[in-house]
Amino acid sequence: MIIQLMGPQACGKGTQGELLSNKLGIPLIGVGDLLRHITSSHRHYALIQETMDKGDLVPDQIVADLLVERISHPDCKNGYIMDGYTRDVHQLDYFDPHPDWVIMINIPREESIRRISGRRICEANGEIYNIYTLPKEELAKCPGPLTQRDDDKEEAVNRRLDIYYTQTTKVLDYYRGLGRLIEIDGVGTPERVFSRILEALEASETSKRQ
Ligand code: AP5
Repeated sequence: MIIQLMGPQACGKGTQGELLSNKLGIPLIGVGDLLRHITSSHRHYALIQETMDKGDLVPDQIVADLLVERISHPDCKNGYIMDGYTRDVHQLDYFDPHPDWVIMINIPREESIRRISGRRICEANGEIYNIYTLPKEELAKCPGPLTQRDDDKEEAVNRRLDIYYTQTTKVLDYYRGLGRLIEIDGVGTPERVFSRILEALEASETSKRQ
């Protein structure tokens, strides 16, 4: 099964993608993570860093090449979950994953900003935490220093949200028209949102079979 996870910034694509990947036994491919882990020897390294730091979209061809290479790995033979693709309709001309389902996790813009300002990443194990919602005892178990992503600064966050509301929503309209869009309310605990996703996915699969 091929699933695309979409939604505004900090709706929980990464968080829910991990849970879904464990449940379905297929890998999670985070496009932002792939780009963040490009090594400095990559020929487009400087361009990618500069573009991401501003909150802009990395050029389509670069993203498409990375994804085509990633999904050629054997772990993707039964499908995959893609977090952060497709950002605008032109990207489908470069690479079209032909998803079975596109799961859109929706939260209001103010909630995106609130969550992003609390997001921290553990340098030791890469885990994502939110300093506003995670209990202090849990936070204390984090083995390494917590850092903030460069593109989580206010200006870059607003730029990313503007792109989402002007360009990415057109992709959602396209998938809605194809009958492949599953819309989920992303407000609530991660566990609550995950159970909504599972219920909606099962219902969509059932109606597809009928
Ligand atoms: P990317 O890394 O994909 O960032 P994004 O889409 O902006 O999404 P985020 O990581 O901000 O949010 P998320 O929804 O994954 O939320 P998370 O689970 O972390 O992309 C970064 C950049 O890469 C782009 O700007 C662009 O430059 C480039 N790029 C990526 N894809 C591209 C493409 N296709 N084409 C071109 N360029 C591309 O959760 C966020 C926070 O909220 C965390 O703190 C978390 O703990 C908390 N949280 C999660 N769920 C809940 C909940 N239910 N309640 C309360 N808090 C919650």
